[in-house]
Amino acid sequence: MSRLPTITFASNDLPEEGNLAVLSDKSLTLPDALAGEGVNRALDVAKFEGSKGKSTQILCPADTALDKLIVLGTGDLNDLEEQDWLNFGGKLQSIIGEGETSILVPDTHQAVAMAQGAVLSAYKFDRYKTKSGGKKDDKKKSKEGQSLTFLTDDPKAAKKAWEAASGIVDGVMLARDLVNEPANVLTPKDFAKRAKKLTKLGCKVTVLHGKDMDKLKMGALMGVARGSRNPPRMAIMEWHGGEKDDKPIAFIGKGVTFDTGGISLKPGAGMGDMKGDMGGAAAVTGLMHALAARKAKANVVGIIGLVENMPDGDAQRPGDIVTSMSGQTIEILNTDAEGRLVLADALHYCREEFDPKFMINLATLTGAILVALGKEHAGLFSNDDDLSEQLSAAGKVTHEKVWRMPLTKAYDKLIDTKNADMKNIGGRYAGSITAAQFLQRYVGDTPWVHLDIAGTAMDSGSSDINSSWASGWGVRLLDRLVADNYES
Ligand code: BES
Ligand code: MN
Ligand code: ZN
Repeated sequence: MSRLPTITFASNDLPEEGNLAVLSDKSLTLPDALAGEGVNRALDVAKFEGSKGKSTQILCPADTALDKLIVLGTGDLNDLEEQDWLNFGGKLQSIIGEGETSILVPDTHQAVAMAQGAVLSAYKFDRYKTKSGGKKDDKKKSKEGQSLTFLTDDPKAAKKAWEAASGIVDGVMLARDLVNEPANVLTPKDFAKRAKKLTKLGCKVTVLHGKDMDKLKMGALMGVARGSRNPPRMAIMEWHGGEKDDKPIAFIGKGVTFDTGGISLKPGAGMGDMKGDMGGAAAVTGLMHALAARKAKANVVGIIGLVENMPDGDAQRPGDIVTSMSGQTIEILNTDAEGRLVLADALHYCREEFDPKFMINLATLTGAILVALGKEHAGLFSNDDDLSEQLSAAGKVTHEKVWRMPLTKAYDKLIDTKNADMKNIGGRYAGSITAAQFLQRYVGDTPWVHLDIAGTAMDSGSSDINSSWASGWGVRLLDRLVADNYES
């Protein structure tokens, strides 16, 4: 990973020299020390009007000893939400260049949010750009990097808040790293190793191997795994931050480290993107990192099913019938509908082992969700209105938006088959819904949400706080869900 900005918080005495960034609405009321003839004229010439996200830079502003004054427009201050401050931080980070910059943000909460946005915006996946290969990047690396000092009313409180806030950012970046990592590097075994690293933060991490999952009769997951030379894993991450006897809340992730489709092989074009088919597992791992790093007062379990879907001589075939851990049998009619098979066993295992308060699973499950919702919303499927509402509300805060989709008996019938309890594909239509109906057959009466993140976990376009292929979608959303509803 490239160098990230150094973040510090200090009291809000304006620096006498160097680079300073300030935020302003259309009133352009700058701090006294800056509001001189020269600065005002420069803003005038630049036609700076304080509109949201628009910025201007004034070099060697007259009336000051500063090298550079950057003014970022906020638009109407009354309209601003928390996410706007992350976006402002991201925007500033991307325009200020290398070196030291002080940023004047009196409100501590806003300063911390800006710092989060700045670090997220700086994230790059450039681990594999070697010296000889990437000349441009070399030049950058030789420089000093960015150092951002937020000048704020209560730097002590800001530093304290940053301990938690930076843990969340680290969780998002961990999720991005995992999704960006190619599948030759991030095999199920390697992914499990990375999950194991959460023990350093105080998580209990258990890793199941193939023989353990065979013993547990996870025939659905193991059926997918047999097509690959890279053996499967299941990682179970536990964070005990709540009351001792409090039931845990649970997050389950699809972790297909590469999805070729198996014997129902995918077409070649764009198949490389399927290195990101573990976006759900990445989000769960990033979330567990975030929660542990900020010592969330909740009991949480994260379970990720890790397999590679490959077309080997021993791979499962269309027409095969497997028995899932729940005892329900599945006729595999398309080996490319593998995510639901992995999740079927992970969800059932989660219920059996933890009897959680609720289960939320995340999965890059269907291409059809891209057809329905594009990259703007993740699909939300649920048997619980309250949990759905809580997620919707959290999504409005973090701008990781969800859109609820239907689940009904009529859709459920579409996965009936005469040869087994169910088949792993529906018909031609409503592909995301039939996939969700399939999952619902494994959750019983546990409150449950399935988030289909095929459109949001990767390649979802860049934003003020992300320029990488992987977005880390879901980490901030779920951290917020926990913080707002499930901490004692
Ligand atoms: N991993 C894919 C879904 C996917 C597609 C994720 C595009 C991200 C981007 C999933 O395993 C899959 O192949 N789904 C099939 C299901 C079909 C065979 C019923 C699909 O969407 O085509
Ligand atoms: Mn597939
Ligand atoms: Zn898949």
